Amino acid sequence: MSIDTNNESFEVAARRSLELESDLQANPERFRMLTGDRPTGPLHIGHLFGTLLNRVRMQDLGVDVFVLIADYQTITDRDAPAQIRGDVLGLVADYLAVGIDPERATIFAHSQIAELNQLMLPFLSLVGVGELQRNPTVKAEFAANGGPSMNALMFTYPVHQAADILFCRANVVPVGRDQLPHLELARQIARRFNDRYIPGKPYFPEPTALLSSAPLVLGLDGHKMSKSRSNAISLSMDEDQTARFVQGARTDSERRITFDPVHRPEVSNLLLITSLCNGVPPEMIAEEIGEDGSEELKIRLAEALNERLRPIRHRRRDLLEDPAHLGALLARGNERARNIATSTLNHVLESMHMRY
Ligand code: TRP
Repeated sequence: MSIDTNNESFEVAARRSLELESDLQANPERFRMLTGDRPTGPLHIGHLFGTLLNRVRMQDLGVDVFVLIADYQTITDRDAPAQIRGDVLGLVADYLAVGIDPERATIFAHSQIAELNQLMLPFLSLVGVGELQRNPTVKAEFAANGGPSMNALMFTYPVHQAADILFCRANVVPVGRDQLPHLELARQIARRFNDRYIPGKPYFPEPTALLSSAPLVLGLDGHKMSKSRSNAISLSMDEDQTARFVQGARTDSERRITFDPVHRPEVSNLLLITSLCNGVPPEMIAEEIGEDGSEELKIRLAEALNERLRPIRHRRRDLLEDPAHLGALLARGNERARNIATSTLNHVLESMHMRY
């Protein structure tokens, strides 16, 4: 695919996403949104400002929100670790702590939904090997992970992701730009299934990408925020850890603090995070700090973070004191997801004349 077609499809997706945002405001009850995370450790402020708060916003608008814990996806690039149960329950605690309400939203782990995973079989029959080879994420993993020795679950995971979305017939999927090709594949699988087996009576909606409007938060070293880089403030850190972490943030040698994302990315990122936490525009924070320099900026950042995260952290800690309760809440979400997946699989089998 050429750069041009990529840009063109990005523009189409961006336009669709804008229309979707206003439809969501006007008619939230027409939408089911699905998002998910891999359980590879506690979520951080990049997740909070990039996606978690948006999920809560959608839930509060009245959209039917599904939150998927993509535990099977962790074995695309590692062995299932012994602490996976803790990671999964930690994720449930993160969700509840930020305000996802298990009475209104459905939190589930896809490994527990056999009927969802079975959709992978008919879906695989609708996708070409060449298509997967051209998928940018698969292509990058192929290059990074020893080429042909890449495992086949990694190779097919965009199809698995389509099953995650289509099993509950979600019509909205919040994504970053890098995930757009996956969503395009899910749209194609929906279309191909409908066309091949039930022409004129579409069963699967083509899910629409909701592109994030949140500003991109970088790690404290100015690089992409990620657990493996140790540059992320996780929701689970305590206040002292946060302050110490912020102390080590990268700045620059200019004393006067200004908000200038192009020329001063590190300092501007710290101002942005402070602003996201306390609601004061970054330019104004910079103005107030002025010649007091990066030392003062770090003090304000740590304060703003701890203030903003305090209630979330309290709730998270309380929740983790009762893992059995978290497990029970997850089981309820799984049960709800399983009922939907069972009905979808029945419909799919019927459409394929495989009812005996
Ligand atoms: N692949 C996503 C990630 O790595 C997680 C995910 C799995 C997902 N299935 C999904 C996201 C379906 C959106 C829709 O973050």
